[in-house]
Amino acid sequence: MKFLVINGVNLNMTGVREKDVYGAKTLDEINAEIAAHFKADKIEFYQSNIEGELCAKIQSAAKGGYDGIVLNAGAFTHYSYAIRDAIAAIQTPVVEVHMSNVHAREEFRHKSVISEVCRGVICGFNKNSYILAIESFKL
Ligand code: DQA
Repeated sequence: MKFLVINGVNLNMTGVREKDVYGAKTLDEINAEIAAHFKADKIEFYQSNIEGELCAKIQSAAKGGYDGIVLNAGAFTHYSYAIRDAIAAIQTPVVEVHMSNVHAREEFRHKSVISEVCRGVICGFNKNSYILAIESFKL
């Protein structure tokens, strides 16, 4: 199968920022672990801090032949109607992911404006949130 893992704003700082929340591994290390876990699949990775670039990537993914998209939009999750509309505009299913348990954190993180247009949401399992999200497409 073929998947696209998209990380949004500040996720490039994983392993550097708030290690108590997001762990000590860098995003490259996490991506390598995901790829190793799903050796038989083709997994592409993309990260951007820019909302419009994330929307463009989601739009173009519609033509990429992916079986699913895993999206950790970072803080954009909580307020980006543009990313919400980009997800709604494509047929490819998207699973929303968060490494931390956003519901156990500050109140502003409890609200996601993208969940409604995603197939499902996985949060709180650190890097394994991505692995669980990819697994969900195989059920
Ligand atoms: C996050 C949770 C968001 O609230 C936060 O802004 C992030 C990371 C997570 O993976 O837990 O940047 O999406």
